[in-house]
Amino acid sequence: MLGNFCYSNPTKLYFGENALEYLTDELKHYGTVVQLVYGSGSIKKSGLYDQVVAILKACGKTIVEDSGVMPNPTVEKLYQGCKLAKENQVDFILAVGGGSVCDYAKALSVSAWCEEDPWDKYYLRMEDVSNKIIPVGCILTMVGTGSEMNGGAVITNHAQKLKIGHVFGENVFPKFSILNPKLTYTLPKYQMVAGIYDIMNHITEQYFSGEDDNTTDYLAEGLMRSLIHSSRVAVQNPEDYEARSNIMWTATWALNTLLAKGKATDWMVHMIGQSVGAYTDATHGMTLAAVSLPYYRMICPYGLQKFKRFATNVWDVLPNGKTDEQIAAEGLQRMKEWMQEIGLVLNIQELGVTEDMLEGIAQGTFLLDGGYKVLTKQDVVEILKQSMQGE
Ligand code: NZQ
Ligand code: ZN
Repeated sequence: MLGNFCYSNPTKLYFGENALEYLTDELKHYGTVVQLVYGSGSIKKSGLYDQVVAILKACGKTIVEDSGVMPNPTVEKLYQGCKLAKENQVDFILAVGGGSVCDYAKALSVSAWCEEDPWDKYYLRMEDVSNKIIPVGCILTMVGTGSEMNGGAVITNHAQKLKIGHVFGENVFPKFSILNPKLTYTLPKYQMVAGIYDIMNHITEQYFSGEDDNTTDYLAEGLMRSLIHSSRVAVQNPEDYEARSNIMWTATWALNTLLAKGKATDWMVHMIGQSVGAYTDATHGMTLAAVSLPYYRMICPYGLQKFKRFATNVWDVLPNGKTDEQIAAEGLQRMKEWMQEIGLVLNIQELGVTEDMLEGIAQGTFLLDGGYKVLTKQDVVEILKQSMQGE
């Protein structure tokens, strides 16, 4: 491990079937006016909304309802939330939902008292926060993003055809997050597996980079093995508590900043996937799944030793009598078979991408230099074309 770093994570996590019991204690630390942020109704159907409202009322809180946070939250929704927060002088934001709801809550926390346009300041100019931040707590219902224990807040601007993530500092991380694996049982299979691939890709984005011997890579291999195993169990039986809890915990560790410490990271699958999302509004994890294999095949020759290690240590490919290239290719083939087995989308056309969008998607893709190959816009077009040819 060659990097220098500081590690600290301020989010307090409550994990398990009874985790919601701790909400009352946590709420005591914050003021009376709570902006209750949630999505389009899943928490009402599951009964979680009633439980949370009862706790808030018992704690004497005034509730400011902020519903309808859509998957891939938009900048327009953010502006509306800011208005609500300011008008009601909100003391605390409670997010109940998936990554979109948690991300939106964090974006709102830094934007409500921002005197400039938050899209310009945080997403186009990538500036730090210089105004009051409203504290956030999360109750997680969808697993994948890691938003429950990080500073990420991804916002989509459809007018500009851009989907951009700002990774804020520790002062924006949720103060606490409540993780009950049972709350994820009601997720449709499509969302569950999209979340599983989001986790997988968060790990590979941090694994496929660097050539140093790094603790992170060993941690990453363990997390990936656990995820692959648990995903197979959960697809067969979505109410297997052990599998769902392992997936939930793996998701948190995959993106709570630990893995990235002391090493370079890639993140190009996310950059391409986000641009696909800006054009199609497709489910985040599926956008990643659909572009991953063509991307990894393209960069494999530049990071051959790591792809070989991935094949043997994660997918149990036997190396005997094979060239490095054959071993690496077999690893990616096994990943593809697993992706098909659990039901991921491997072709961007299924997500609504059409030929005429390819140049625009490539233009909207931020090109990063932490991975094994710095892509050109033309490379991105090539990856998209390969995805369109299907797997
Ligand atoms: O709106 P509701 O009715 O709640 O329905 C949601 C939504 O339609 C539904 N859902 C959530 N929990 C449920 C449930 N349905 C039934 N039962 C439950 N228990 O699932 C749908 C998707 O939810 P969403 O929050 O959009 O999914 P996800 O957690 O994947 O979040 C995606 C967003 O997070 C961003 C993505 O770009 C995307 O905007 N990301 C955030 C990251 C971060 N903070 O670090 C990193 C990620 O790479 C990602 O970019
Ligand atoms: Zn992701």
